[in-house]
Amino acid sequence: MTFFDLTKKRSSIRSFKEREVNEKEVEKLLKAANSAPSAGNLQSYEIVAIKNDELKNDLVKAAHGQKFLSEAPIVFAFLQDEERSRKKYGERGKLYSTQDGTIAATFLQLAAEDMGFGSCWVGAFEEDEVANLLETSKRPLALIPVGYPARRPSKNSGRRELDDLVQFID
Ligand SMILES: Cc1cc2nc3c(=O)[nH]c(=O)nc-3n(C[C@H](O)[C@H](O)[C@H](O)COP(=O)(O)O)c2cc1C
Repeated sequence: MTFFDLTKKRSSIRSFKEREVNEKEVEKLLKAANSAPSAGNLQSYEIVAIKNDELKNDLVKAAHGQKFLSEAPIVFAFLQDEERSRKKYGERGKLYSTQDGTIAATFLQLAAEDMGFGSCWVGAFEEDEVANLLETSKRPLALIPVGYPARRPSKNSGRRELDDLVQFID
């Protein structure tokens, strides 16, 4: 699949088969995330890979009942490591560490699509609850459930027209 076919095909998946994502596949996904660009190449984020059923069920509660989080065989939590970026970039490190983690999560999502998995960016959750569950003081940026899609939406969600989105300055 070309990159452009992949971006056309990708859509958020919110329903997963029970089939597991094996260790090699998990490693491949993580390596894709690890290849993302980051400010100063500091990679100011952390990833928690969650397979534990009890923890996934708790994440559902922290994410306002988004049940598909527990259906996915694995959930990747991306955490912002603000301190790591701040040491070099001061105040700007707050933004950079958010962006570092966000880009890495996006790379993982695109890799998942390329490997035949589905995923969904989950941002609606109680931050403090998720941080407590993961026993971290770092800010959770996103939860990304990954697995074999049980259902794909029949058509992709629409997008704003480029005219509405883009301003050219010649
Ligand atoms: C920052 C962010 C937060 C999101 N949070 C959620 C969420 O909590 N639950 C959910 O089902 N989808 C969530 N999404 C997925 C969007 O709803 C989805 O990407 C959007 O509707 C476009 O659909 P598509 O991904 O299928 O193209 C989130 C996406 C982003 C980028």
